[in-house]
Amino acid sequence: MGRLDGKVALITGAARGQGRSHAVRLAAEGADIVALDVEQDIKTVAYHGADSSDLAETQRLVEPTGRGILCRHADVRDQNRLDEVVAEALDRFGHIDIVCPNAGITSYAPTWELTDAQWQDVIDINLTGAWHTAKAAIPSMIEADRGGSITFISSGAGVKGFANCAHYVASKHGVLGLMRSLAVELAKYSIRVNALLPSTVRTDMVTNEMAYRRFRPDLDNPTLEDVLPAFRTVHLLPVPMLDPSDVSDALLWLSSDEARYITGVALPVDAGSLLK
Ligand SMILES: NC(=O)c1ccc[n+]([C@@H]2O[C@H](COP(=O)([O-])OP(=O)(O)OC[C@H]3O[C@@H](n4cnc5c(N)ncnc54)[C@H](O)[C@@H]3O)[C@@H](O)[C@H]2O)c1
Repeated sequence: MGRLDGKVALITGAARGQGRSHAVRLAAEGADIVALDVEQDIKTVAYHGADSSDLAETQRLVEPTGRGILCRHADVRDQNRLDEVVAEALDRFGHIDIVCPNAGITSYAPTWELTDAQWQDVIDINLTGAWHTAKAAIPSMIEADRGGSITFISSGAGVKGFANCAHYVASKHGVLGLMRSLAVELAKYSIRVNALLPSTVRTDMVTNEMAYRRFRPDLDNPTLEDVLPAFRTVHLLPVPMLDPSDVSDALLWLSSDEARYITGVALPVDAGSLLK
């Protein structure tokens, strides 16, 4: 018996990183998976986006669980495309029970030096894209009358200010407003809506030269080894970075019936960093 037997989970940004980990973890507990990703570089982002083989790798990792998986290219900025994929998922699986708007990007500059394009890309993907994803899935969830669980991926930046990424901080604060409003609107349908607030997670968003330079501006060519001590200072617990699976475990719990009366919650998965 899996904790998600008979359920179908839609996850954006599922080609790599946390989204891939979520797909594999939820499938291992019995959910069929709808995995979406844009699989392209975003011009204003200094690290690479997922590449065209990454969604296929997510599929390869899910298949041994025996669950179904539908992988599709979709840009969360494109509502029509999300609606199309949801329609295809409903044809194949019959219903959607779990939604995880996880796709996200970041870039860095002092607030007054951010370009319009940097600001817009982050808001369009992290906030508007999360809304688009929920909007695509919710009507079918209400109609199916099976309840459900939506878990947005916010961040510690959803509740705290950070230098040099005000657009990211604003987007992740916005996601919490979206989550709370939907929790109020959807409770009568037994659809729960929550958010996870991860701290630093070992994915391409963080393990890249631009992020290293932010933490070690004193070095010409900082490496991961150089930044680990700085990452460690962010957390209370003795760990520099979380693994994607740490976030997946929290998502699994929130998505399962074990959390059946949990809604409207912003849950830190942060090794205590919000207490610092
Ligand atoms: N890594 C961290 O330290 C950290 C901490 C807190 C929150 N987060 C959040 O976790 C989520 C997952 O990020 P990650 O750490 O796995 O990074 P990641 O860069 O490895 O993964 C992000 C995924 O989103 C996809 N994506 C980007 N733009 C998209 C678009 N327009 N449409 C569809 N897919 C798109 C990318 O192709 C990529 O596969 C993001 O929302 C991020 O903001 C990350």
